[in-house]
Amino acid sequence: MNLLESLKKWGQEHLLNNLEVKETSKQDSILKEIQSQDFELLNKLFLQHSKANDTSKNSSYSPLSFQLARDNSQYKMWEETGEVLLRNSQVAVFLLAGGQGSRLGFEGPKGAFDIGLESKKTLFQIQAERIDNLSRRFGASIPWCIMTSPLNHQETIEHFTKNQHFGLDPNNIQFFQQGTLCALDEKGKAIQDKDGHLALVPDGNGGCFRAIAQSGNLDWLKSKGIRYVFMYGVDNLLTKIADPAFIGALATDGRALSSSKVVHKKHLNEKVGVFALHNNLPTVIEYIDIPEDLRNSLQDDGTPLFDGANIATHLFKIEALQKLQNTPLPWHAARKHVLEEKNAWKFEQFLFDAFPILGSMTLYGVSRGEEFAPIKNASGEDSPASAKRLLGLLHRFWLEESNVKINPKMLYEISPTLSYAGEGLNQRVFDQELAKNILEFPADFE
Ligand code: UD1
Repeated sequence: MNLLESLKKWGQEHLLNNLEVKETSKQDSILKEIQSQDFELLNKLFLQHSKANDTSKNSSYSPLSFQLARDNSQYKMWEETGEVLLRNSQVAVFLLAGGQGSRLGFEGPKGAFDIGLESKKTLFQIQAERIDNLSRRFGASIPWCIMTSPLNHQETIEHFTKNQHFGLDPNNIQFFQQGTLCALDEKGKAIQDKDGHLALVPDGNGGCFRAIAQSGNLDWLKSKGIRYVFMYGVDNLLTKIADPAFIGALATDGRALSSSKVVHKKHLNEKVGVFALHNNLPTVIEYIDIPEDLRNSLQDDGTPLFDGANIATHLFKIEALQKLQNTPLPWHAARKHVLEEKNAWKFEQFLFDAFPILGSMTLYGVSRGEEFAPIKNASGEDSPASAKRLLGLLHRFWLEESNVKINPKMLYEISPTLSYAGEGLNQRVFDQELAKNILEFPADFE
């Protein structure tokens, strides 16, 4: 079947309109975009999702409970086990950075945005310095896979190059792009810009399993003897990258192939996915998908029934990634503004849909104040300012715990090169490092 016939079959022949009047190089790039798309799949997704939503399955979800890992009697042993795995260079880090910072109102990569820290460090720099801290402490090589998308690939690489990869070995960092899917208009037609280019949008963070395999990076990790892959979203200022105890907890669980960090949900309408059991399998119900009655259900003590919030911090055994590279995940639909189209269809896969496929996972409870400071909006809740405050409070707490005399009117930002999770601090270190690796700022900075 030639291209025109196959486009006709899926109702997308408009994509070839006026193509012949464009210059050859433009024609070629548009044709390449068209050929990269699976219109049969898009057609199927459109037909499936444009029908009314079926909510009859609601009652089959039940909440998935969790405990704070730190309260577990095994915690010390988990930490030591994770440290051994790091020392043996068996842990890699996988950053999901293909998303758009649209809610933040920033066009470039979220990780390269100036979030207003005293140090002026970006999320990428903070993350790089946490990796550097662990690498030095454990003499470990920690490969870093960074998944971008065509929206931000070039700028992400430029940010790292301009900053000399923040002192990390560039050979130990791999950048690769996730896949894209064309957005559709209300009638299911592929959307084009005024030049005829397709409106390609990233295929969701669930595209990570395909992307890491197809880019050759799963093989790269395997060739290095990696056994555990720490996977995380770009926008949490407090992510404990490659947290040893988290790794040790999964490593000592004979059954589970993956583990996720979880915190108590702040309020019913917080925009987080919640962990649940569905048909006896673990899953996450995303905040855009959760039926209202489930979202609003309360426990006797008035807290949300579906209380286990996903903070986009996961850990996979390498064999899980191996299995997931060819396993299809379901597609979720969202209505978004794309180019001129106000109510376009956009389809995405979510990485947590891998959990029911893997069957068994562990939930690792952590405290919000220590590990969750998301940056989603330009101001107010989950903004750069709220995240800066959370980091300032946590780092002040670390200093107080270390018996350092601090100014109670101030908050503190401690460089991850000095301390990963509050270790190694005392009055002498504080006096030496203040205004260098420890910065102070007024608690009423906003
Ligand atoms: C995400 C989680 C949500 C969780 C919340 C916590 C998913 C699908 N949702 O929601 O359950 O409670 O974080 O903060 O994981 N990304 C890509 N490619 C894409 C889309 C996203 O790499 O195509 C990356 C983003 O860059 C980001 C992460 O995935 O690092 C999360 O994506 P985002 O769209 O920001 O999800 P949220 O709606 O915030």
